[in-house]
Amino acid sequence: MTDNRTGKTYEVDVTDDTVRAIDLRQIKVNEDDFGLMTYDPAFMNTASCRSSITYIDGDRGILEYRGYPIEQLAEKSTYLEVAYLLIHGELPNQKQLDEWIHEITIHTFVHENLKQFCEGFRYDAHPMGMLLATTGALSTFYPDASKIDDPEIRYSHVIRLIAKMPTLAAFAYRHARGMPYVYPDNELNYPGNFLGMLFKMTELKYEPDPRIERALDILFILHADHEQNCSTSAVRAVGSSQVDPYSAVAAGVAALYGPLHGGANEAVLRMLRRIGTLENVPDFVQGVKNGEERLMGFGHRVYKNYDPRAKIIKKACEDVFEVTGTNPLLDIAVELEKIALEDEYFVSRKLYPNVDFYSGLIYEALGMPVDMFPVLFAIPRTSGWIAQWLEMTQDKEQKIARPRQIYTGGRTLDYVPIGDRG
Ligand code: ACO
Repeated sequence: MTDNRTGKTYEVDVTDDTVRAIDLRQIKVNEDDFGLMTYDPAFMNTASCRSSITYIDGDRGILEYRGYPIEQLAEKSTYLEVAYLLIHGELPNQKQLDEWIHEITIHTFVHENLKQFCEGFRYDAHPMGMLLATTGALSTFYPDASKIDDPEIRYSHVIRLIAKMPTLAAFAYRHARGMPYVYPDNELNYPGNFLGMLFKMTELKYEPDPRIERALDILFILHADHEQNCSTSAVRAVGSSQVDPYSAVAAGVAALYGPLHGGANEAVLRMLRRIGTLENVPDFVQGVKNGEERLMGFGHRVYKNYDPRAKIIKKACEDVFEVTGTNPLLDIAVELEKIALEDEYFVSRKLYPNVDFYSGLIYEALGMPVDMFPVLFAIPRTSGWIAQWLEMTQDKEQKIARPRQIYTGGRTLDYVPIGDRG
């Protein structure tokens, strides 16, 4: 590299198609100079870690967890098996899977005080705000969680986080409806138990429809991890201070709360409702092309091809509607997709459906209000967050996250007494 300011030349290693930002520090205009830094707002071109958890090739529309294509996992696996894969790095044998499921199942209950904690929220509290608070509160029930260097203790909290997230999420949902909280039913599987905690009324035993249960499990698989996205980066950054995993995951929930991350599927539903009928689709598309609005659920920062998850969700949508009856909004979504995939505007910009294009339709069909959508995302993403957190705690190259800045403010000003400030 040649520094045009001085004409000096430096050798900088290129490994894994990257340069190390710290290697640039040797590039100085004089001995007192701090050295060259990189400036990368929003981390558009900066790798912050090495990771062997999730692989994405956005141009080809490829998503793999630990090397396994998402399509195969969605078709053949279950969410809990995928969670095992993310955490342990390999698929379990039958005995390992049975033990894993058993461990998660027996940790689904939460301390009774958490119920009282939930009751302190206003009657109309947003369920994601409640989940954020209750996840953080869990750290106070498990003080040993701060011993993050102890592998056994670490593991016990990995199990607890995955196990208790649906319980906390369901409590938040029931709170907003003024309904009594439902305790976990350990005879049901992971998605079935969650459905039971949401929807059980007076029946002695809640029996989920297996097709709904499976569709929810597939959604959980698809949302389990997506490498260094905003919420995962938040978990890693907060976790790098060596705080307990509940607090680090609460940071992930907070990041996912934002409309640019966990909230796009809600925007899709609103858009489909606004379009209203099939006849209005061409006009709507024209409006998008004129730059008057966005086709929500289309386009992605990383995928410049069909988001592989969108294809799988579209199929799951059909399965759910078999049980719940069709939603006319699905026809509008399909028509929008058909027109957009053939239109030069979308083709030339590589705009394809993303994961959110169809997921909102399923959530709605399941009877979920829109403010539960990000909560439904947070439940499965917990296994991804915690897998990334585990990887980080064992990565010798990681330290506390602490970016640099380019300072743009004033310097060495003299303090002026308030009466003299004009
Ligand atoms: N509808 C219409 N035009 C679009 C859309 C869209 N959904 N998305 C991008 N474009 C156009 C832009 O106007 C731009 O056109 P131009 O080159 O003529 O100016 C071009 O495509 C490139 O778009 P960018 O905004 O530069 O793409 P970026 O990577 O920054 O944005 C994003 C990605 C935010 C996802 C964007 O595509 C978008 O807003 N989509 C709709 C919202 C959405 O569905 N978000 C969910 C993402 S998935 C997730 O977070 C889980």
